[in-house]
Amino acid sequence: MSLENLFEAHQVDLYRDQYQVFKNLTLAIKKNESVAILGANGSGKTTLLKALNKEIYPASKPNSWLKIYGKENWNVWQLRSMIGYVSDDIYKAYTPEVRGLEIILSGFHSSIGVHGSIQQKITDEQLKKTKEIMLELNLLSLIDKPLFKMSTGQQRRCLLARALVNDPQTLLLDEPTTGLDIISTFHYLKLLTKIKNRGRNIILVTHNLQEINKDIDRVILLRKGIVIADGPREKIITAKNISLAYGINIGLSMVDGKYLPYAKG
Ligand SMILES: Nc1ncnc2c1ncn2[C@@H]1O[C@H](COP(=O)(O)OP(=O)(O)OP(=O)(O)O)[C@@H](O)[C@H]1O
Ligand SMILES: [Mg+2]
Repeated sequence: MSLENLFEAHQVDLYRDQYQVFKNLTLAIKKNESVAILGANGSGKTTLLKALNKEIYPASKPNSWLKIYGKENWNVWQLRSMIGYVSDDIYKAYTPEVRGLEIILSGFHSSIGVHGSIQQKITDEQLKKTKEIMLELNLLSLIDKPLFKMSTGQQRRCLLARALVNDPQTLLLDEPTTGLDIISTFHYLKLLTKIKNRGRNIILVTHNLQEINKDIDRVILLRKGIVIADGPREKIITAKNISLAYGINIGLSMVDGKYLPYAKG
């Protein structure tokens, strides 16, 4: 059993309800690799993350497998303590009244709320860990704040904290900075650098090329469920590839080591 790969798909078909997003997907991501996944709306980025987190399962067929950390069959709760996931879906699943502390605590059970008997299972140690993370992410003022009264940036940081409580090896981030202002985006990216420097790896879905900085080792470009380019960041992020992925003519300049796309023609 190889534990080298975080993700290993061989000839995998992935569906969302009846809709086939990937056909015969063959792709491997190493355990310690940090990857950005880029592609136009509907190209399959979120579907890929959901397959990684075992929220969706591949269609069963001969000579096809999907292994996460070298295993096909997982207790999903065990897996989710190893993989932190930040996405809009999670945010939408909470009731608006849920408070900051509760959102973050729910990460220990990879659940959406902390209710009744589960609440009693929160240990002093877990509470201590939660407060440490809240302090680190500057969230202590949100302990009692209901979700619907938080700013977008505060909501995003709460979800990141929720994903971090189990100290996961891998973080799946689905457009984590959408809706954040410039300063909050910088703070968020700094946090990701810190997490990366602790030996964790990040799988980042973004439309913002500026976020694909030196923390990212590899870029995978998707177009309509097909991997159209895959390799080291500098080789993959070219005007030609980005134009191909998004289906329009895009130019690319480099400012202070960051990619800046612009529309051409
Ligand atoms: N529940 C569903 N039922 C049917 N089709 C779906 C469902 N969810 C997603 N799809 C389709 O699957 C395809 C891939 O969707 P996915 O969410 O993975 O795209 P994405 O790359 O994350 O896009 P975006 O940038 O808009 O988030 C899209 O064509 C989408 O319409
Ligand atoms: Mg998506």
